[in-house]
Amino acid sequence: MGSDFENHVAAVEEAAAFLCGQVDFAPEVVLALGTGLGGVADRLELVRRLPFAAIPHFPVSTVASHAGNLLFGRLGGRRVAVLQGRLHYYEGYSTRQVTLPVRVLSRLGPKVMIIANAAGGLNPALTPGSLMLLADHLNFIPDNPLRGPDQPAWGPRFPDLSAPYDAGLREKAILCATELGLANVTTGVYVAIPGPSLETPAETRYLRRCGADAVGMSTVPEVIVARHAGMQVLGISVIANVNDPDNFAPILLDDIIAQAKRAAVDLERLVVAVLEEGEG
Ligand code: HPA
Repeated sequence: MGSDFENHVAAVEEAAAFLCGQVDFAPEVVLALGTGLGGVADRLELVRRLPFAAIPHFPVSTVASHAGNLLFGRLGGRRVAVLQGRLHYYEGYSTRQVTLPVRVLSRLGPKVMIIANAAGGLNPALTPGSLMLLADHLNFIPDNPLRGPDQPAWGPRFPDLSAPYDAGLREKAILCATELGLANVTTGVYVAIPGPSLETPAETRYLRRCGADAVGMSTVPEVIVARHAGMQVLGISVIANVNDPDNFAPILLDDIIAQAKRAAVDLERLVVAVLEEGEG
């Protein structure tokens, strides 16, 4: 038995080797989908579906709204690997465990990750059901997936995050949104909180003052790993609810999922259009 970290490195490389043995398919793009957003997968020209439970060392999500499948297929003319279902820090996993699927896929050489989440709007200009392209993030999850020994084969010790989200991909997404007639697409800053409890009115006020436009419980750990591995990232939040600290309405999971599902149609069209545009 090696150290925790040695076990993690071995698990990642074993899972990557397993996937290479299962399917002769080098993904160009990783698509990581969140709560109620798995529908993009229905548009996939499927090559192979693998439940997370069938992949060595893949942790299995404990959240009912997150079906755990890895899909390989073609979408918008690109070879994509879809992570349908996501793990969260609030489930009790470390961010190293949360990001294991992205780390494993990074070993197959994709250049781009498109990651989507359902988020709460903090900026009062946002509306439920709209899409926000991530321009930047705040990591308020008290963990970092790169914490621990250095692994130079995976990326630099101190990865640069001066541009966590690729400006070119974001521009492309804005152009695609305009062409598709999606009026409600904005850009903003996403803050990741640990969860699972939602924000109080005072926390909402605080997060706004910190410069965040939307809040959620995911995405940032995966983005850190993707950037560490050299991928360009496009991040998209589906704004499920908008939180007004002075007139705070209860935030209900069923409402979040219902809004995410409604906006998922716009998200799917946008993602396919960005993929069709070709190289990042
Ligand atoms: N807060 C945190 N996470 C969320 C929210 C929210 O209001 N809505 C959807 N995910």
